[in-house]
Amino acid sequence: MGCIMDYKKIIAEKLNIEGISIEELTSFIETPPNNDMGDFALPCFKLSKIMRKPPVLIAQGLQQSFTTDEFISEATAVNGYLNFKINRKNYALNLLNEIESLGENYGSDTIGNGKTVCIDYSSINIAKPFHIGHLSTTVIGSALCKIYRFLGYKVVGINHLGDYGTQFGKLIVAFKKWSSVEAVNEGRLKELNRIYVKFHEEAKLHPEMDDEARRYFKLIEDGDKESNKLFELFKKITLEEVEKIYKLLNVSFDSYAGESFYNDKMAPIVDELKDKGLIKISDGASIVDLEEYNMPPCLILKSDGSTLYATRDIAAAVYRKNTYDFDKCLYVVAYQQNLHFKQFFKVLELMGKDWAKDMVHVAYGMVSLESGAMSTRAGNVVLLEDVIAKTIEKARAIIEDKNPNLADKDKIASAVGTGAVIFGALCNNKIKDITFSYDRVLNFDGETCPYVQYTVARCNSVIAKCGDTPKFEVLDMNNAEYGVIAELGKFKDVVKASAEKYEPSFITRYAVDLSTAFNKFYMECKIAVEDEKVKSFRLAITKAVKTTLTNALTLLGIETVEEM
Ligand code: ARG
Repeated sequence: MGCIMDYKKIIAEKLNIEGISIEELTSFIETPPNNDMGDFALPCFKLSKIMRKPPVLIAQGLQQSFTTDEFISEATAVNGYLNFKINRKNYALNLLNEIESLGENYGSDTIGNGKTVCIDYSSINIAKPFHIGHLSTTVIGSALCKIYRFLGYKVVGINHLGDYGTQFGKLIVAFKKWSSVEAVNEGRLKELNRIYVKFHEEAKLHPEMDDEARRYFKLIEDGDKESNKLFELFKKITLEEVEKIYKLLNVSFDSYAGESFYNDKMAPIVDELKDKGLIKISDGASIVDLEEYNMPPCLILKSDGSTLYATRDIAAAVYRKNTYDFDKCLYVVAYQQNLHFKQFFKVLELMGKDWAKDMVHVAYGMVSLESGAMSTRAGNVVLLEDVIAKTIEKARAIIEDKNPNLADKDKIASAVGTGAVIFGALCNNKIKDITFSYDRVLNFDGETCPYVQYTVARCNSVIAKCGDTPKFEVLDMNNAEYGVIAELGKFKDVVKASAEKYEPSFITRYAVDLSTAFNKFYMECKIAVEDEKVKSFRLAITKAVKTTLTNALTLLGIETVEEM
């Protein structure tokens, strides 16, 4: 009985209105932002259609027939709303006990048991710098993996590597002209980017270099040993470099099957498209005409017979369905690719794949850096590695200033800095374009990670100060105390909603709200008091806040610190 949903359901069951299911009625019940009038409210206008009465009369009628019990202590009709007061002590007791006994599992669920979700995210391009543009897909995708697992789903995290295309031919040409194995091992991604940029400059003057690049790419495809050895080297260097960042951000994958993995899996797809009469030839290229659906055609084969990004995505989707039998397949990719996903989802549908409806493009907005914020640049891009390093460095300076005597400052600065970057990328609705600002993500008083981490550290110091206390008993609560209880009870619903809407931002926002409720309580109510009963009750609230905030941050890949 530890979550708001359970209470909503109890209310719905008690109301038991004809012509509407308990589930739907439950979904109508709200938690008012201000709980002076009640802890829950039913807006009766939502029932006018079914009950054929004005909301004010519905509310009055429902009030009359409502019987209170040990959970719901009052129902009052006010202006077309039916407001409920719950038995707060009962609620607090159940909730605090549940949080204590579930610990790191508080907020988890079994709704996903037996279901599989594939999540395609980060999906970096080999030999290209890992820049700030990859931050959102990486942290949104990783959070969704953790959230879905927490809800009982089997999750397959996939890094659909961009490891196919003529750019690898270009790299080989550039490598042979201006680099060496030693130089690449030494300079890593920066070296690969240097020669790639140089190739483009030089190829403008010597267009024959492009032909050479195409030849080398063909050699890779045909299995030429030397070319493939170089390609594997570029891939290895890239993966080693990004692995460092993934480790910092607590990101991991179950599969690195990238675009080239589908080289031998596209021919059957092209045959199937032909057999089903979906292919048209246009200027020598094979396309699926989507005019009827108001979209440009989806390109399947170029006139020279080579495949495209969409061809590989169609093959990958079929492979994933066959291999994992997913219930849902998510693609965490920027909104710039909206059309691509609409097109290839439609092609799958036209192929008669009934599971095409389970494909979801989780689109997100752009991240840019506030101007003048970055000096280290590779080519024209801002490296994610540099952004994280700089945030950690700034976090270190703030800690040095605020709390110079802290032990293990480096470790704390690392947790605070990386947390700030992750949280900063997750704290807005994902579709919004955002400007990354060091000062904003590191503001200890803002809606930020340091604010939440600081709240956890504050809980720790309260817990240490209180020492051992007898088992708590729930006392009559003031507004600040109940404010924390009310927030604590929302967590489970927030986790579910964030999965349903693919919005980790629901969890960042929740962590800030719970922190704010706790800090209000901390300011207004002394916790380590003489009175053992008051002390142990307030301590129980504090422990529950620590558990819940820790669980929320863990779902985002963020570490907490004992002290800061
Ligand atoms: N590598 C691509 C890019 O950087 C993203 C791939 C996304 N995943 C996919 N299955 N298309 O644009």
